[in-house]
Amino acid sequence: MIKKIVVAAAAACFVLAGFNLALASETGPAEMKLETTDSKKPKPAIFPHKAHQDALKCADCHHGMDAEGKQVAYVEGQEIGKCESCHNPEKLGGKTKGKLKLDTFKGAAHGNCLECHKEVAKKDAAKKDLKKCSTCHPKK
Ligand code: HEC
Ligand code: HEC
Ligand code: HEC
Ligand code: HEC
Repeated sequence: MIKKIVVAAAAACFVLAGFNLALASETGPAEMKLETTDSKKPKPAIFPHKAHQDALKCADCHHGMDAEGKQVAYVEGQEIGKCESCHNPEKLGGKTKGKLKLDTFKGAAHGNCLECHKEVAKKDAAKKDLKKCSTCHPKK
């Protein structure tokens, strides 16, 4: 009897481990080139996603939205959409954070990426270049 329970428990653990693995593999691309879809003056940004995942939490950048259009904190395993799928004039028209227009990809991206890079640059002189435009928008 005890043996049976142990076997059942072990089997359940395998199922859970498999489930965790399935969630953990939904990490998206390791490297990305981010670009606003309808830009007249495209200024693509390079983004080492994997390096940031290793150093930060998913919740530092990803979040959701509720039915009232309010920001909802990231929960593990949630569906992750493109920033622009919410940060567009139709869904977040007129929303701002300081000077940033949150109804654009640029506003959302600078609010996340650039704000953090500025903060790190301020604290650590060795990383002052992180806030430079060319760190993310390499010159051609
Ligand atoms: C430093 C910020 C940052 C961190 C940390 C981060 N991501 Fe991302 N992730 C992004 C950005 C930006 C994109 C591109 C979104 C876009 O194209 O609009 C993205 C894209 C994705 C995508 C692809 C979405 C799509 O539809 O193309 C997945 C999946 C994803 N991330 C999962 C994760 C998971 C899981 C973690 C934590 C282990 C994580 N990310 C950590 C910023 C981040
Ligand atoms: C499911 C919809 C949705 C997606 C996808 C989404 N956001 Fe947001 N985001 C929101 C909402 C809603 C707010 C709150 C807007 C308000 O009312 O001020 C918000 C606020 C923000 C803010 C300002 C508040 C803060 O947390 O600093 C930033 C910056 C931001 N988002 C960046 C991003 C980035 C970068 C991505 C892609 C990696 C992203 N968002 C994806 C819905 C979304
Ligand atoms: C919460 C903080 C944080 C956020 C958010 C963040 N970054 Fe970073 N990023 C860092 C740090 C810290 C480093 C440098 C790590 C090091 O040098 O040790 C870095 C490094 C980089 C680098 C490599 C720089 C180099 O010269 O090696 C690029 C490119 C970059 N980030 C782009 C982005 C983009 C694009 C976004 C938004 C989609 C973003 N980052 C969001 C903290 C952040
Ligand atoms: C930490 C990364 C990062 C830094 C630093 C950064 N940006 Fe960005 N920027 C982005 C991301 C990500 C986007 C959204 C994707 C895109 O359009 O490139 C963006 C978008 C833009 C856009 C909109 C492009 C378009 O096609 O509509 C402009 C303009 C821009 N940035 C200018 C600047 C300038 C000027 C600086 C320096 C003061 C700067 N950025 C610094 C990450 C960064």
